[in-house]
Amino acid sequence: MKRDFTKLLDISKEECLYLIDRSKELKELKKQGREYRPLRDRYLAMIFEKASTRTRISFEVGIRDLGGTPIVLTKGDTQMGRGEPIEDMARVLSKYVDAIMIRTYGQDVVERLAKWSTVPVINGLTDEYHPCQVLSDLFTIWEIKKDFKDLKIVYIGDGNNMANSWIEAAILLNLNFTIATPEGYEPISHLMERAKRNHNFQFFNDPFEAAKDADVINTDVWVSMGQEEEQAKRKRVFKSYRIDEKLLNVAKKDVIVMHCLPAHRGEEIEGDVFERFSHVIFTQAENRLHVQKAILEWLMLGRANRTI
Ligand code: CP
Ligand code: NVA
Repeated sequence: MKRDFTKLLDISKEECLYLIDRSKELKELKKQGREYRPLRDRYLAMIFEKASTRTRISFEVGIRDLGGTPIVLTKGDTQMGRGEPIEDMARVLSKYVDAIMIRTYGQDVVERLAKWSTVPVINGLTDEYHPCQVLSDLFTIWEIKKDFKDLKIVYIGDGNNMANSWIEAAILLNLNFTIATPEGYEPISHLMERAKRNHNFQFFNDPFEAAKDADVINTDVWVSMGQEEEQAKRKRVFKSYRIDEKLLNVAKKDVIVMHCLPAHRGEEIEGDVFERFSHVIFTQAENRLHVQKAILEWLMLGRANRTI
């Protein structure tokens, strides 16, 4: 049966750890300059209904690195822009390509696409989830901290797609995970309820309480794509949720700060803090490439021959 990656809870803990491990191997292979093209003659359709730099380029370079061909579609390029249903798009694309990546608004669009496609569907970001980014961030933490055990991982800011995918990661891997959002901006409630059953999960409104003794602090923009009209209000609501030196003082001395990018310096992250942790932040961006390749290989071919 074909598999999809519409959210992190589509995969098991064991599959998640496999993908992290495989990303490490593919990163090493690329650094050695060794050719590895198992997806020759395979096509990846990428549908973008929102802007993207990292997701688009890492998937495009990733599929080419593996020997395949990307086809980039924006809504206006296709009949989707004139109302062709996603169910028809799914069945048509499945006749031509071997996998579909989509960045869109509602998670229901990705789920309908996955239901009606006979090829794997990957979520490249919806209003609700950003699983490829969080998988890449897990890999980055793994590289820097060597394990997830005994780590306090914190997310501060909006209860948005990144926050929801982080909570899914916490549920999947039983992470020691803490989140702080303003009241009224919490992540999806059924995920919060599920995570609360895990004694390693904590939720606060106060960012300082959340950041206490943190090993890893994640943040993301206060205004996500599609929320532009709420910009002025959000800047007021979130102003005490900035990652700055004062907040970092309550974290562990060797804390790392992570940001999925794009960043707004002076809003969710202070400029100096961004630069201090830029080695982490740009490794997160780099790792999107290696993780995308692991996802593509796994969905199209299954587990890799580990001798490669
Ligand atoms: N982090 C991320 O998904 O970046 P893009 O919006 O540039 O793809
Ligand atoms: N929460 C952000 C993430 C961007 C990668 C957004 O949806 O715009």
